[in-house]
Amino acid sequence: MDSNPLVAGKGVQILREHGIEVETGILEAECLKLNEVFYHYIKEKTPFVVMKYAMTLDGKIACATGDSKWVTGEAARKQVHEMRNRYKGIMAGIGTVLADDPLLNCRIPGGVDPIRIICDSKLRIPVDSQIVKTAQEIQTIVVCTQDTLEHEGKKAQMLNDIGIQIIAAGAGESVDLKELMVLLGAQGIDSILLEGGGTLNASALKAGIVNKVYAYIAGKLVGGQDARSPVEGNGIEKMRDAVQLSEITIDKVGEDICICGYPIS
Ligand SMILES: NC(=O)c1ccc[n+]([C@@H]2O[C@H](COP(=O)([O-])OP(=O)(O)OC[C@H]3O[C@@H](n4cnc5c(N)ncnc54)[C@H](OP(=O)(O)O)[C@@H]3O)[C@@H](O)[C@H]2O)c1
Repeated sequence: MDSNPLVAGKGVQILREHGIEVETGILEAECLKLNEVFYHYIKEKTPFVVMKYAMTLDGKIACATGDSKWVTGEAARKQVHEMRNRYKGIMAGIGTVLADDPLLNCRIPGGVDPIRIICDSKLRIPVDSQIVKTAQEIQTIVVCTQDTLEHEGKKAQMLNDIGIQIIAAGAGESVDLKELMVLLGAQGIDSILLEGGGTLNASALKAGIVNKVYAYIAGKLVGGQDARSPVEGNGIEKMRDAVQLSEITIDKVGEDICICGYPIS
């Protein structure tokens, strides 16, 4: 059944009225999964958020030096670009922009660049970053707080003049991710690939906005207690409070593995 309240059940009713036998609910879970973005968006009016990260076997997303290119092999990276093509937006924190100066575009032939969404509470984004330099070609949103918008009006205007949309979400210290999802949903953004880093990933899990997780794991060990990990923040206190994934699948992707699942809310 279509969960869009405007159409749900109407097609079935028309067919039945014309004497056509209709069965519903066949392979329902599998069918819902094929259209998970649509079903989530139509019901919640917020984007379906897919958290993706690549880490080493010892749980690091970069070396202690900050070097992070590349954690996984070519096949896994290609899959990620397919995801960037599939989902409407891509979201990262300002920490990743400052550390890696990424483009966050889609690099497969014929692929569509996702709308880039940078969580940057204090508008620290450098004007000479790749994101800002390519903002005229790739739709870009920088998200700050209400307070920053009031006090950094000049920078906001300058970014706006370059073609970057500035959104204020939340009145606190950092971007309010729940409020942001409502604002992005209202803009027609139905899905977001969340590419961290660990600070933003932790907040996203805490805010309960993550709908699906893809963890790519490379058979590498890098060590280093200062090397970054995929979910940071303060963490939880008790193992029983961990975010548990359901419907877990494990796939081999080139020389890496990919574990995928759905956080149980
Ligand atoms: N291997 C991978 O999959 C992968 C992917 C991405 C990144 N990385 C690595 O991750 C590292 C960067 O991670 P990071 O943790 O420093 O940066 P991050 O998570 O990208 O960005 C964190 C920053 O985002 C801002 N932010 C805005 N709203 C937030 C909110 N609600 N919650 C949390 N943060 C919010 C905060 O700065 P303000 O307070 O100024 O807004 C915060 O310091 C780099 O080494 C990069 O290479 C690896």
